[in-house]
Amino acid sequence: MTDQNTYPPTKEFAANAHADKATYEKMYADSIADPDAFWAEHGKRIDWIKPFTKVSNCDYTFGDVSINWFEDGTLNVAANCIDRHLETRGDQTAIIWEPDSPDTPAQHITYKELHENVCRFANVLKFQGVGRGDRVVLYLPMIPEAAYAMLACARIGAVHSIVFAGFSPDALANRINDCNARVLITADEAPRGGRKTPLKSNADAALLHCSDKVKCLVVKHTGGQTTWIEDRDVDVKAEMAKAADRCVPSEMNAEDPLFILYTSGSTGKPKGVVHSTGGYIVYAAMTHQYTFDYHDGDVFWCTADVGWVTGHSYIVYGPLANGATTVMFEGVPTYPDAGRFWAVCEKHKVNQFYTAPTAIRALMAHGSEPVEKYDLSSLKLLGTVGEPINPEAWNWYNDVVGKGTCPIVDTWWQTETGGHLLTPLPGATATKPGSATLPFFGVEPVVLDAQSGEEITTTEAEGVLCFKKSWPGQMRTVYGDHERFEKTYFADYKGYYFAGDGCRRDEDGYYWITGRVDDVINVSGHRMGTAEVESALVAHAQVAEAAVVGYPHDIKGQGIYAYVTLMNGVEPSDELRKDLEKWVRTEIGPIAKPDLIQWAPGLPKTRSGKIMRRILRKIAEDDFGALGDTSTLADPSVVDELIENRMNRS
Ligand code: WT7
Repeated sequence: MTDQNTYPPTKEFAANAHADKATYEKMYADSIADPDAFWAEHGKRIDWIKPFTKVSNCDYTFGDVSINWFEDGTLNVAANCIDRHLETRGDQTAIIWEPDSPDTPAQHITYKELHENVCRFANVLKFQGVGRGDRVVLYLPMIPEAAYAMLACARIGAVHSIVFAGFSPDALANRINDCNARVLITADEAPRGGRKTPLKSNADAALLHCSDKVKCLVVKHTGGQTTWIEDRDVDVKAEMAKAADRCVPSEMNAEDPLFILYTSGSTGKPKGVVHSTGGYIVYAAMTHQYTFDYHDGDVFWCTADVGWVTGHSYIVYGPLANGATTVMFEGVPTYPDAGRFWAVCEKHKVNQFYTAPTAIRALMAHGSEPVEKYDLSSLKLLGTVGEPINPEAWNWYNDVVGKGTCPIVDTWWQTETGGHLLTPLPGATATKPGSATLPFFGVEPVVLDAQSGEEITTTEAEGVLCFKKSWPGQMRTVYGDHERFEKTYFADYKGYYFAGDGCRRDEDGYYWITGRVDDVINVSGHRMGTAEVESALVAHAQVAEAAVVGYPHDIKGQGIYAYVTLMNGVEPSDELRKDLEKWVRTEIGPIAKPDLIQWAPGLPKTRSGKIMRRILRKIAEDDFGALGDTSTLADPSVVDELIENRMNRS
C-alpha cells in the first residue's frame, strides 16, 4: 500500500472471516478465469426445485442485449428465505421490528411466525385473484407486513413493486399505471419521527387516476381514521386472520421477474428496473454474507427503507436467504433524539450496522455525546452506501461509533445492480476512507476514457465506470421497454454496462467514485433526475422554464438548486417560492423539494437553444470564477445576472 491512510483488517477479524486476503484473491481470480464454474458452485447456496444445468447466457451487444443466469433452474424465493430454515431455525428470530416510538414494544418474529404470516398474506392475495406474473404495488410504512407482502408475492410468483412511502399520490399513480398493477397494498398511516403520513388518503388520491379494477389492500396499522370504499378496499389483517396458514410455494423459473423498482434517470419518467428470481437471490445472499461477514446468530441492521433497493437486498432478501436475524426500523435517526440509532444497537445487540453517509453526517452534527451514552460493544462491522463518504464522516463513524475496532465497508452499487459491485471484504481488504475499494467476486470493472470510450489499462486511471461482464444480480430489463434498457446502459460505451458514474482508480487498483456524470443528482443517498424536478416545476401555471442542478450540501451530499423563469408579468415573491416548493412536494414527494430557488429572468443557452447546465452548475457551486467558455452563448449577459443574484454564497 502506497497510501498512508489505510486500515488493514486486524489479524483476529481476518482469522474468523469468511474471506481473508488470500481467500479473496483466490476466489476473485477463479471467478474471473471461469465465471460459469464459479457461479455454478455458488449457485448452490440456494435450494433449487429443479437444479440449473446452464449457468450464464449473456450478451452485451447493443441491439441484442440479453442477460440470463441459471436459466433452466426453478426455485421459489420465499421458500429459500423461510421454509428451508424451518427445521433448523424455526424458533430463531427472523425479523426484529423496532417501531417509530421507543415506547412501543419491539416485535421479534421467528421464522415459524414469518412462515405463517407470509402464507396467510399469500392466500389473501390469491383470494383477490392475484397470480403468477401479476404486478402488486406496495406503498407501506416500515412494518413487518411490508416484508410479509414482499415474500407473499414471491411465494405465489406475483411481481412486487414498492413505492417509497414518501412519494406523492401522483408519483404512486404513475407507477401503478406504468406496471399495470392489479392490487395496491397500503396502510392507514405511516408513523415516522412522531408524525404520521396519511398513506391511505394518498392512496385514495392516487387511485382516482388508475383503473377502477385496482384493489386496495389496507393494513390497519395505527388505527387512524380512513375513508373506506366497499368492494375496492380490503382489510388485510382481518382477511389474514381468516386465511389458511399454509400456502404451497410456486415453482418459478430462474429468469421470472421477482420485482420491479422504479428509479430515476437523466431523462424521461422513472424506469421500472426489473430483477430476476434466481440470479438476484444468489447475488443478494452471497454479497450479504461476504461483504458484512455475516455469521450465524449475528443480528444485522440495515437502516434503509424497503422502498429502496438497499431495503430489498439487505433488509429482506439477502439476510433472510441466509437465515439471518434482520432488524427493521420504522423510525428516523433523530427521533426522539439523535441517539436513537445507538439506542437500538444497544437494545438489540446489533452486530453489523449499515447506513448512509447522509445519516452519519446528520448525526455527526450532534457530536459524540449521544453515541457515548450507549453500549455499542456488540458492533463488529459498519457499512455505508448511497453516495461517496467524505473522510471527515468516515473518521467520525470509525472513531466515535466503531471505537476504531470495526471495519467499515463502503459499498458501491445501484438499483440496477441488485447487490454490491465494489466493496471491501472486511477480513480481506485494507480500507481507505472514501474508496469503495475493489470488485466483488465475478465483477470486472473498467475505467473508460469518457470521450473515446477506450479502456484505460494503466492501474492509475480516471474516467467513466463500466463493467465488462454480467453478474447474477444485474437487472434484466426496463419494465415494458427493453429498448430503453439498452439505450440507457449499453449505447454510450458499446460492449459494456455503463453505470453513469465517474471514477478514479489509484495506484493500488482501488476505485474512488467521483459522482454521476449524467443529469442525475444524489440527495441524501436518493437518486433524482434533474429532468423530473424540472418537469414538475414547469407544470406549475406561473412557471415558463426551469433548470435544476445539484450543489454541494453539508448534510445531504447534494442539494437541489432550481433556476426558475416565471411567465411574463408574474412577479417573484417569497409566497410564490413557497408555493413552488409545495408544488414539487405534491408532484413528486418531499425528497424532491428544491433547497434553493433562484429567479432567473433568462437561462444561459446556446444559439441552438440548449441550456448550458455546466454554467448553471458552476454558479450553484459558487464557483463562477471558472465558468469556461461562454462564447457560444446566445446572450452572455444572462450569466452575469445569475451570478449577481446567486443563492449559495459561502
Ligand atoms: C448511485 C445509485 C445502491 C443503493 C443506494 C443507491 C451512488 C451508491 C455509493 C458509494 C459512492 C455511491 C452512485 C450510484 N452510490 N453507493 N458507496 N459511493 N457513490 O442506489 O438510487 O440506484 O443510486 O448512488 O452514484 O450510481 P441508487
